[in-house]
Amino acid sequence: MGMIDWEEYTARQLMQLPGERRKRIGCGGGMAMTTSARRVALVTGAAKGIGAAVARRLAGDGCQLVLLDVDAAGIEQRAGELPEAVAVIGSVADEGDCERAVATAIGRFGRLDIVSHNAGIQRYGDTATTSRALWDEVIAVNLTGGFLIAKAAIAALRASRGNLVFTASVQGLAAQRDVLAYSVAKHGLIGLVTAMAVDEARHGVRVNGVAPGAIDTPMLRDSVALSDTPERVWSVLAAMHPIGRIGQPDEVAEVIAFLASDNARFITGEVVRVDGGLMSQLPGSPTVEQ
Ligand SMILES: NC(=O)c1ccc[n+]([C@@H]2O[C@H](COP(=O)([O-])OP(=O)(O)OC[C@H]3O[C@@H](n4cnc5c(N)ncnc54)[C@H](O)[C@@H]3O)[C@@H](O)[C@H]2O)c1
Repeated sequence: MGMIDWEEYTARQLMQLPGERRKRIGCGGGMAMTTSARRVALVTGAAKGIGAAVARRLAGDGCQLVLLDVDAAGIEQRAGELPEAVAVIGSVADEGDCERAVATAIGRFGRLDIVSHNAGIQRYGDTATTSRALWDEVIAVNLTGGFLIAKAAIAALRASRGNLVFTASVQGLAAQRDVLAYSVAKHGLIGLVTAMAVDEARHGVRVNGVAPGAIDTPMLRDSVALSDTPERVWSVLAAMHPIGRIGQPDEVAEVIAFLASDNARFITGEVVRVDGGLMSQLPGSPTVEQ
């Protein structure tokens, strides 16, 4: 009998496991992953909202995690709740902080396979009322932050043939009034997905995004609270989505986990709307009830 190729043997064993167990071992990675090559994910904006849901979802798949956020208390708490997660306190708008987060992944876990970029801020104003400072702040976090985390991670991702998933927004596909800088940043993030996907395919790195509609997170609640009639705004927002409700962070995290997994191995340059049909509906369409 010849020598056993343990890599191949383990891959074959994994293929014979029931789907759920295989998925957990591979951290969403599918048949080629082995227990000794668990996936390592870097999740930005993971202290709360969608990023926190992504961290929980990937941890459930068995990923080892590095969580980056400016909210020191929040990110320490989040990391403490998950089995193998390290908190890095810092901003995606800071090149050094992004490099430190990637170095933490390599130092602690020896590799980096997935980047999920969720850090974001929403500020308000049109062309006249958006100050230069506000513009710079929003572009720095939402758009430049995406570029900086990608730039810091790209060598490690090329080495692991990993992937990135950027959290954009339906406001990257169309615009609401008075969120000029945010909408421009999200349009740019979708451009980053497209351009990076083309560049990185030859290096074996996939680049995708999600475009959520209204999702029940602290960001949305803070935004709705600015209104004089928050309950009314909440129900109008819900009704804007053909599915008839606001989405949950877990529902976005599920799609990000899929895009980051080997099940999506032929998908790159794609931005998946997770918007309850919002962008499918003709604006102003009357409903049956009306
Ligand atoms: N909630 C929605 O309805 C909605 C819809 C579409 C897109 N999005 C996008 O989803 C992403 C997550 O949004 P959310 O609703 O969970 O927001 P959230 O405010 O609930 O959470 C955002 C997280 O990002 C962190 N963060 C902010 N600035 C940062 C920085 N400079 N560096 C690192 N971390 C930073 C915050 O501390 C927070 O933990 C954002 O990019 C947002 O634009 C949200």
